[in-house]
Amino acid sequence: MPSMVQNGSRNTAQSRKKKPVLKFSNQPRSAADVIARREIIKRQRESLPIASVKERLVQEVKNHDILIIVGETGSGKTTQLPQFLYNAGFCPDGKVIGITQPRRVAAVTVAKRVAEECGVELGQKVGYSIRFDDNTSSSTRIKYMTDGLLLREALLDPYLSRYSVIIVDEAHERTVHTDVLLGLLKNVQRARVKSVNDHAIVNNKKASNSITNENGKGAECTTFLKQCQRKFPPLKLIIMSASLDARLFSEYFGGARAVHVEGRQHHVDVFYTLHAETDYVDAALITIFQIHLEEGPGDILVFLTGQEEIEGVERLVQEQLLKLPEERQKLLTVPIFSSLPSEKQMRAFMPAPAGYRKVILATNIAETSVTIPGIKFVIDPGFVKARSYDPVKGMESLIIIPTSKAQALQRSGRAGREGPGKCFRLYPESEFEKLEDSTKPEIKRCNLSNVILQLKALGIDDIIGFDFLEKPSRAAIQKSLEQLFLLGALTDDCKLSDPVGHQMARLPLDPIYSKALILASQFNCLEEMLIAVSMLSVESIFYNPREKSAEAKTAKKCFASPDGDHLTLINVYRAADELLQKRRMELGTEKNEKYIKGKNEKIVRKWCKENFINSRSLKHACDIHRLFTPFVPPFFLFSLSQIRGHVEQMGLPISSCGDDTLQFRRCLAASFFLNAALKQPEGTYRALASGQVVQIHPTSVLHQSKLECVIFDELVQTNQKYIRNTTRIDYLWLTELAPHYYAMQDLAKFVAVLSSGCGLGRGVGGHEECSFYCQASQKAKV
Ligand code: CDP
Ligand code: MG
Repeated sequence: MPSMVQNGSRNTAQSRKKKPVLKFSNQPRSAADVIARREIIKRQRESLPIASVKERLVQEVKNHDILIIVGETGSGKTTQLPQFLYNAGFCPDGKVIGITQPRRVAAVTVAKRVAEECGVELGQKVGYSIRFDDNTSSSTRIKYMTDGLLLREALLDPYLSRYSVIIVDEAHERTVHTDVLLGLLKNVQRARVKSVNDHAIVNNKKASNSITNENGKGAECTTFLKQCQRKFPPLKLIIMSASLDARLFSEYFGGARAVHVEGRQHHVDVFYTLHAETDYVDAALITIFQIHLEEGPGDILVFLTGQEEIEGVERLVQEQLLKLPEERQKLLTVPIFSSLPSEKQMRAFMPAPAGYRKVILATNIAETSVTIPGIKFVIDPGFVKARSYDPVKGMESLIIIPTSKAQALQRSGRAGREGPGKCFRLYPESEFEKLEDSTKPEIKRCNLSNVILQLKALGIDDIIGFDFLEKPSRAAIQKSLEQLFLLGALTDDCKLSDPVGHQMARLPLDPIYSKALILASQFNCLEEMLIAVSMLSVESIFYNPREKSAEAKTAKKCFASPDGDHLTLINVYRAADELLQKRRMELGTEKNEKYIKGKNEKIVRKWCKENFINSRSLKHACDIHRLFTPFVPPFFLFSLSQIRGHVEQMGLPISSCGDDTLQFRRCLAASFFLNAALKQPEGTYRALASGQVVQIHPTSVLHQSKLECVIFDELVQTNQKYIRNTTRIDYLWLTELAPHYYAMQDLAKFVAVLSSGCGLGRGVGGHEECSFYCQASQKAKV
């Protein structure tokens, strides 16, 4: 690696220049432009490595029902293979080719690109479907979707009968949904073959009874078999990745055929540092400037671990820039992370103004499948923020860990999408060799309750015996089963309970949220709970940029409820809704719907900006809830993932508790009872189920409040153990509303304390909780 530029002292810049703005041209393209772009795309497609093996690949799919395809990033797998198969007649009788992606952003951007390549409108022949956003129609034949979504579709259609081909893409990411999907698809394939045989046998019998002529009988049988095969054609299953342990997958599928697509579109030179870097952020900063000052044109993509780090680097880049001569200052930073509003995310995909170099500061959101135009250089410090769930503590941790080799390859691949590129890994080559080959499968580090609920709904009762690619730990399965049992989703013999378990499985939500909705109809607050759950199901609603942190906090205060975050979120939703109602009245009935919708979208965006609300998250929440219609596209009305529709169909009465928020909070206590925390004398809280000492997260409106008892949405460990999204409750409600848990627990804790000879240690079974349980039940008796 060339020597790094010296890192000068970082004086705070006094005068900041206004950043040049990246703008999309909204002008319709001229006919000549459109033709020229088509020509470019055509040539690009023809030059992809996969183009030269098109016929062979199609033949492989024809010959094998399961195929594993491994090919370099950028070889054209994701965008081209579905088109090859479509053109080769793999969509008979309106059947669909489904391609799963682990990330929403990949499913959406790839679908857009393929629709453009096919010259069709998105949502017609080519579409995408992700949770709460379905952009497909009856004419869709190539459908990109998240792996989680396909799993849910299997609940409604266990044979996945709409699909002729399913491509599980980026399988190396090993999301929990991909892993479960693979097991399920194996079953679907077997079930389809069995159905064909069963149908053929039945029809064959009918044929022999009704037809006497021998020749006629043979012809009839063939016709029946053909009809059966048309109804249940074998499902073609393709597992695909750039960096896949082909052997593991092949063995899992009984020695399935694996093919390699040779060659990459463009070469990427990889550089390593000579020595280990003590501060990777510093090293990234130095490398950014080194590229900027020494390399030719091309944008830079830097992988960082989270919003805070990205904003920190952004600030440092601005400061360093001011120390350069004016003509060398043409470097533009563009952040991209998942909680960033989508308009801002899209800036990463826009070209830099003439003469400027763009440096994109990204989390691993930009790691797989996406193509960011202009990127020639990738800087990879080799770290990622990973989620990991501890089933015993019921706690999720977010910790920074080294990437796997597979991730490093994906990252460097982003530099060679449009031309040759360079990747700077900020660690020595010897370190690369020490990295894990692939990322630890999510199934081994996540809460399994949701997946188990879905498997149960699919009739798979023996979870421990399920054919997982890699089995999760027994303890994790048991803990999740226990949680589902406590929520009333499972019966004593571990079957899905009726109706609660079935209702919960039907909702595309975390089981606790589903339970909250079901209970809310009894507490007369389903209207409010629908809003709260919708708002909790999306990325952060509040947007808090570092440079305007004080303004953002003031804006948030306008919505804050003294009772907590759930009611605060409802206040935001209602304020936006009110704004729209008012506008609707002002616009009257003269204007057409399209006009009103367009105007409303603009107004909401402006309002969001002024109030530091993430408009994309609010839009998602609205789509989920569907009360608030300006954003909702018509096809969404038929989306399988829309929760208001589900609860209506379940016959749950939707009513509002109005100003009586007590009912709403009691309902939260009744459903989130596993997530309750009690204040301790020194000011911290103790999560009752696990005994963890926690603090209310600084983003909560209850941060620094002195409330006795709260419920929370999640327990996360970053630098501290935090509970997020909290609401005030009365602890006596716990024994009243969840006696099956708190009474049981009470007893268990007493036994633990007594048997320890009054050791009264801290942690689970420690004396603080015991005194609480004792006190709570005594009060409850009074
Ligand atoms: O899946 P794989 O990494 O093999 O490649 P792909 O996603 O099919 O992309 C193949 C090529 O299409 C990329 O190298 C880009 O040149 C182009 N592409 C693009 O320009 N814009 C997109 N949104 C997706 C792909
Ligand atoms: Mg791909």
